[in-house]
Amino acid sequence: MSIHPEIAKRRTFAIVSHPDAGKTTITEKFLWYGNVIREAGHVRAKANRSYTVSDWMKIEQQRGISVSSSVLNFPFEGCQFNLVDTPGHQDFCEDTYRALTAVDAALVLIDSVNGVERQTIKLMDVCRMRRTPIITFINKMDLDGKNILDLLDEIETILKIKVAPFTLPIGCGKLFKGVYSIADNVFHTFNKEEGKQEFIQMTGADDPRLDEYAGENWIREFREQYEMITGAMEPFNRDAFLNGEMCPVFFGSAVNNFGVRQLLNAFADLAPPPMKRESDVRVISPDEDAFSAFVFKIQANMDPKHRDRTAFLRICSGSFTRGEKVYHCRTGREIRLAAPTAFLAKDKEVIDHAWAGDIVGINDPGLFHIGDTLTEGEKFNFTGIPDFAPEFFARVTLLNPLKSKQMNKGLAELSEEGATQLYESLKSPVPVIGVVGELQFDVLQSRLLAEYGAEVSLDRVPAYGIRWIFGAESDIQKFTAEYAMDCMFDKERRVVCLFPNEYRLNLALKNYENLKFSETSQPEAMILRS
Ligand code: G4P
Repeated sequence: MSIHPEIAKRRTFAIVSHPDAGKTTITEKFLWYGNVIREAGHVRAKANRSYTVSDWMKIEQQRGISVSSSVLNFPFEGCQFNLVDTPGHQDFCEDTYRALTAVDAALVLIDSVNGVERQTIKLMDVCRMRRTPIITFINKMDLDGKNILDLLDEIETILKIKVAPFTLPIGCGKLFKGVYSIADNVFHTFNKEEGKQEFIQMTGADDPRLDEYAGENWIREFREQYEMITGAMEPFNRDAFLNGEMCPVFFGSAVNNFGVRQLLNAFADLAPPPMKRESDVRVISPDEDAFSAFVFKIQANMDPKHRDRTAFLRICSGSFTRGEKVYHCRTGREIRLAAPTAFLAKDKEVIDHAWAGDIVGINDPGLFHIGDTLTEGEKFNFTGIPDFAPEFFARVTLLNPLKSKQMNKGLAELSEEGATQLYESLKSPVPVIGVVGELQFDVLQSRLLAEYGAEVSLDRVPAYGIRWIFGAESDIQKFTAEYAMDCMFDKERRVVCLFPNEYRLNLALKNYENLKFSETSQPEAMILRS
């Protein structure tokens, strides 16, 4: 069966980067190329970027930052791009990880001055686990950045993925001359002042015209790098790319709109259309006629006037039309998708038809959990949408004892939404919460008060790390007896252990060889590669 053209043209991806690498800037350029916004001008102040700042929650507005991921759609060169935005401030939340379960590819954006940074490393771990195809863009070439070979080496050694440079820069900083496209020997000139970009066909890297454009010193360095890269490095291998083992690398400058179009072209050409996905029953192919989707994100109170929740669905197979009934596999209920919406951050737009690869929002009357599967009637559950190990933990103490019902409801709902993970200690009635980014504690505290009327204090629990424990029932029981003080149940009543230090974890690994200590709630959270 050949893939439906509507599905074949979908490119669903996310941007993996550290704050300030230029994610907002490049997103703006993408939207401009997609004709979604008219102005190509420079990036405006953050507070005015309403299409990329999803300032849905009060706390976000107070802090002037974007906490929640949003989804942007734009057409380009015959493809339909769905960009799943990942929260981009210092503290990020589980939504950032989960956005990566909904995509088929990722753009890794690296700041040429700072090189590979912490948040990129964490997000890349999720991409590697899922074998997500990666395309890398090294941004800010108009600044005096790190040496090109050092940057490529950082990607290989720190992000643990082989690099295949598609372009090579000539010069950098104030003397940035442009990039040379290795495959077709085209020199793309950079001229910041005049904003003029030219594409000049060269006969090869030794074309004497390059010397005129680049100057003696830069051209020597470029030719050395060119020799090294084309001579010693493994050539681009599409299968390795699709398997998340090798990434094409491009250089440019987002703010100057330099190299962005080439990057989008590469995405259209190289990034895969919607991929096959694994379920607990069988593998689901995107070209199956029957509709299927999973919930990867739940966002509460997007509209402060109504207490509403929106569930974000990633469609995995087939298509669906507004008003169609679908089957909710976890509860066995039939539900009607009355007003599915596509998103441009805050501006919702009701859509009539959506295809595999698309992301749509539906109104959630409190029915959905993250990871829920929707189908046309067949019963199965998509796998690979795990809970990720939080890094910060706190005990929740209610300050007004009369509000205990409200606090419990709030904690349960916020954990269903994925804003936090809620644990029940084996030895204590005080609930423990875990978050991926520290800022989530503030978000939680203020949401519990604003939305549920429960004032709480959060007492931090110092911990080395949390692990889900998998293995034979008897082994788990033996383990929980010994580690009772550190063991808890998660919301699905799976056993987790909060290790206070590395030593305790290593001891457990040594003494309980039959158990698996997993950093996600699904030990093999993979998607299939077609
Ligand atoms: P983020 O979403 O990843 O956090 O980054 P963002 O796009 O907001 O970019 C961070 C800063 O880097 C911005 O400057 C932006 O203008 C700048 N920037 C992005 N791309 C380039 C580039 O190619 N070259 C140079 N030199 N700078 C770049 P800012 O001063 O923090 O914000 P603003 O006042 O420009 O809004």
